[in-house]
Amino acid sequence: MFQKLQTKWKVNGWSLALILVTFALGGSACGFIGKKIMNLTGLDKGFIWFVVYIVVLTIIWPVCVLIISIPMGQFRFFKKYISKIFSRFGAKKKSDDLPTQVAIFASGAGSNAKKIIDHFSANPRIKISLIVCNKPGAGVLTIAREKGIASLLIEKTLFENSDVYINELRSRNIDWIVLAGFLWKVPATMIKEWPGRIINIHPALLPGYGGKGMYGQRVHEAVIAAAEKESGISIHYVDELYDNGKVIFQANCPVSPEDTTDSLAQKIHSLEHEHFARIIEQEIKKQKAS
Ligand code: GRF
Repeated sequence: MFQKLQTKWKVNGWSLALILVTFALGGSACGFIGKKIMNLTGLDKGFIWFVVYIVVLTIIWPVCVLIISIPMGQFRFFKKYISKIFSRFGAKKKSDDLPTQVAIFASGAGSNAKKIIDHFSANPRIKISLIVCNKPGAGVLTIAREKGIASLLIEKTLFENSDVYINELRSRNIDWIVLAGFLWKVPATMIKEWPGRIINIHPALLPGYGGKGMYGQRVHEAVIAAAEKESGISIHYVDELYDNGKVIFQANCPVSPEDTTDSLAQKIHSLEHEHFARIIEQEIKKQKAS
């Protein structure tokens, strides 16, 4: 249940605990103040008293939780949460119209990144707002420039051992992370910050041909060396282990005896280009609706 809430609210475990405490304290404060206010009205307990009491609670509950969320460090969450509740009752807030912001992590040529950018370019609800790359000179950086998308060049030690890039992504309001040819292992701290919102594409049919060291041409070499009859792509959620998270989607292609690593790579790329952006969109929409 806690895991579900973390995913739904996009928060880590510590924030979830503070949010639940805020709910509890806010609810108690609201009940206490509500009773005091009712005493001041001088109304007798009855139907009218009950109706007024509900109205009072409805008004003061958001105020109570918002005030308590400040020392708890959860003001941003509750501001968003309360405006969402109000929007359900018709008072639509502007923040709900904001698009879901996606960062693509890539360090290669960036053909997948390009497809994803093009797929969402006309979508007002989902925006590719950042390209994160660890290789100066990578093709994906040129694509970012051409498409007018901000890019961020990252450094390994900081990526693995600090919160620098987590804070950077947070400050840019990144909601989802998509790995499209990104070879470094995503640190656990980052996975916790975006629970259930980091997606990777792997150029083989997991659980086969995955894991540490299995990337790029090496995957295709291994598939051909094992004389596999088919290979394919796996789109999956990212967890703390390489190529291990829940598989969302797979698509296959035949491997013939004539195939070379290059020809197989081409087949795999076509599958990736055909499906990746669509699956990203499907998962974002699914979570938004839940
Ligand atoms: C893709 O085949 C992807 O599956 C793998 O790296 C490759 C990236 O290709 N993880 P590109 O940079 O998107 O062209």
